[in-house]
Amino acid sequence: MSNKVITIERHIIEGERRHPGATGNFSAVLRDLTLAIKVIWREVSKAGLVNILGSAGKENIHGDAVKKLDVFSDETIYRAMDHGGHLCVMASEENEDVLHIPDNYPKGKYVLLYDPLDGSSNIDANVTIGTIFSIYRRVSSSGKGTVADCTQPGYKQIAAGYVVYGPSTMLVYTTGDGVHGFTLDPSIGEFLLSHENIRIPKRGKIYSVNEGNYAYWGTGVKKYIKHLQEEDKATDRPYSGRYIGSLVADFHRTLLYGGIFLYPDDSKHPDGKLRLMYEANPLAFIVEQAGGRATNGTRRILDVAPVKLHQKVPLFIGSEEDVLMCEQFLHQEKEVLAAV
Ligand code: AHG
Ligand code: MN
Ligand code: MN
Repeated sequence: MSNKVITIERHIIEGERRHPGATGNFSAVLRDLTLAIKVIWREVSKAGLVNILGSAGKENIHGDAVKKLDVFSDETIYRAMDHGGHLCVMASEENEDVLHIPDNYPKGKYVLLYDPLDGSSNIDANVTIGTIFSIYRRVSSSGKGTVADCTQPGYKQIAAGYVVYGPSTMLVYTTGDGVHGFTLDPSIGEFLLSHENIRIPKRGKIYSVNEGNYAYWGTGVKKYIKHLQEEDKATDRPYSGRYIGSLVADFHRTLLYGGIFLYPDDSKHPDGKLRLMYEANPLAFIVEQAGGRATNGTRRILDVAPVKLHQKVPLFIGSEEDVLMCEQFLHQEKEVLAAV
C-alpha cells in the first residue's frame, strides 16, 4: 500500500494529464465543488447544534438567518460554482427551473446538476446524509445554458460523484476512468485518496428497499424480495435487509459490500420516487464504472431519455448478478401481465 498522500486536487490533475488536450477547466470545476462540499460538511457536522448556536430569533451566531440545511447546501454549491467561468448553467433538486450563471460572470462549457442534500429527512436523527452531483458538457452553442443542456441522457455524463457525511466524510467520484474514494481529514481540511479504483462485488448478500411499500409493490418485486428471504444454502440465501433511507448511504454500502438497492415503481409511486437527473444517473455512472449495473426495470438507467428536469425513475442498482436476478423476476411479471 503506497503511503503517498494524494489529495483529490492532485488526483484530478493527474487524471486530467492522462487526457490529452485537457484544458484544466474541468479540474477547476471539481476543485470549486470540493470547496463547497467542505463548507456543507462544516454545517452538517454541527446540524444538531443549530438550535443551540442559533439564537431564539432563528439566527446563528453570525447573525445569519438559520436556514434549512438543504437550502443552505443548495445556496452554498450555487455560490461556489457561479463565478468560475466553467459552467454555462446548473440545475438542482431544490429549484424548479434551471439555475443561470449571473450575467456579469463568463459562461463555460460544462453543466452541473446536483442534489445538494440527499436524505434530508434523516438530519434531525443524526443519520448519514449526502450530496450527489453530475457533470456534462453543454450541448447549446454559447451564452446562457438551457434546459436541454440539463436534460441530456446519462451516458453523456463526463463526471459524477457523491459525498456521504457519515462517521467519516467521504467523496466518491468517477470521470469515466474508474471510481475513486477520498476521505476528509478534518485536521487539514483535505480529501485524501483512501479507496482507489473501487470495484463492486459481482454479487452481494444485502438487499436495500423500503419494505413499508410492500402493499404497493408489483408481484415481480414481491416475488424477488421473498426469493432473497428464503433459506437456500446452495444459493447462499437468505440475504440481509438494510435500509437507511438516505440514497447516498444505502448506495455507498451497496457499492462497497455488494448487493442491490431498489426503489421500484409501485401503485403509490408509479414512476418510482428517485429523480433521474441528479440521483439515478450519477449513481448509475458510478456503479457501471465499478463493474455493477443500474436499470429502471426495462432499460439501462444511462440510456433513459429525459423528458423533464425533475422526472422520477424506478431504480434497481448494485451488483451485476443481483440486478440481473431482479430483472428476471420483473420480466416474468411482465410476461404474465402480457399473457392475460
Ligand atoms: P432527498 O432527501 O434528496 O429528497 O432524497 C430522499 C430520497 C433518498 O435519499 C432515499 O433513498 C429516499 O428518499 C427514501 O424514500 P422513502 O422514505 O420513501 O423510503
Ligand atoms: Mn435525494
Ligand atoms: Mn435532496
